[in-house]
Amino acid sequence: MIFRQLFDAVSGTYTYLLASRRGGEALIIDPVQEKVDRYIQLVNELELRLVKAVDTHLHADHITGLGALRDRTQCVTVMGEQSKVDVVSMRLAEGDKLTIEGMALDVLYTPGHTDDSYCFAMADRVFTGDTLLIRGTGRTDFQNGDPRAQFDSIFNKLLRLPDETLVFPAHDYKGETVSTIGEERSFNPRLRVKSVDEYVALMNGLNLPNPKMMDVAVPANMRVGLAQEEIARRGWAIGADEAVMLIGRADAVLIDLREPRERAKHGVIPGSLHAPYPELAANVRSGGMLNELARATGKRIVFYCAFGERSAMAVQAAQEAGLASARHIQGGMDAWSKAGGPVSR
Ligand SMILES: [Fe+2]
Repeated sequence: MIFRQLFDAVSGTYTYLLASRRGGEALIIDPVQEKVDRYIQLVNELELRLVKAVDTHLHADHITGLGALRDRTQCVTVMGEQSKVDVVSMRLAEGDKLTIEGMALDVLYTPGHTDDSYCFAMADRVFTGDTLLIRGTGRTDFQNGDPRAQFDSIFNKLLRLPDETLVFPAHDYKGETVSTIGEERSFNPRLRVKSVDEYVALMNGLNLPNPKMMDVAVPANMRVGLAQEEIARRGWAIGADEAVMLIGRADAVLIDLREPRERAKHGVIPGSLHAPYPELAANVRSGGMLNELARATGKRIVFYCAFGERSAMAVQAAQEAGLASARHIQGGMDAWSKAGGPVSR
């Protein structure tokens, strides 16, 4: 396994780069915008292909690197389903898996620091975001924080992991880099409370100043979405209402870019084909499956995904590959369902 812990000294943020092998797919957790050049350099040096960028929660202390990484690598951006961020490409929920080639992380919904906080667990380690820090816990006094929920997330989810599980948090301000679940259970002063009420009183009494970057970071991080408006302005988008009319039409083919897990959970548009986003480049280039399909049949390719982000990137790639009739469904399956489009499971 390839594992790198990267640090942003300005915000005290840890960012993690993961891959199962050199030359394979990579995942990045909690990237910082100012460090994006460094991440991309490292990804190239290790001959990796960045396919997913994930935030554990909506950050208040730095601007996320999700948008910049997506724009530069066409990776999929991922957050939890509770997140108020305008558009991320893929949303996860408790019990889902966060997967790349050769790796599958368990998705744990751990509200408390914020109501969109998630942790990601592997066999030997857990990425705890700001839910559990080394000898500390993330503050709960803004962004719908809730000390009672955090107590539950920590005691009933994280501390149930094996004692030797390595803890990799999203922040540290004292130079600590890693801990274990057993160590935190024994020595984390915030966890040495006798009841949830004692924890709530402790957290409510912290009286911390707001993060310096908060007024900048929170609004910026709410707008991670790709400018789907720009794709629409070029005439490459079809509204969900209009797309419903395409069902059963002989001159169009709907292409689902999502992962099998998303399709199983949220259903598919009847009659659509599956061509997963990671294989997009191979599929749209000359000789590729979708390129051949469009040229041989004259059918219009209409991409869709969960929220219209991956499909917006796909329609751009298809146009660049010469498929001038390619379109995408703006807002994806989310908009499709809201428009009353049929869904088969
Ligand atoms: Fe945070």
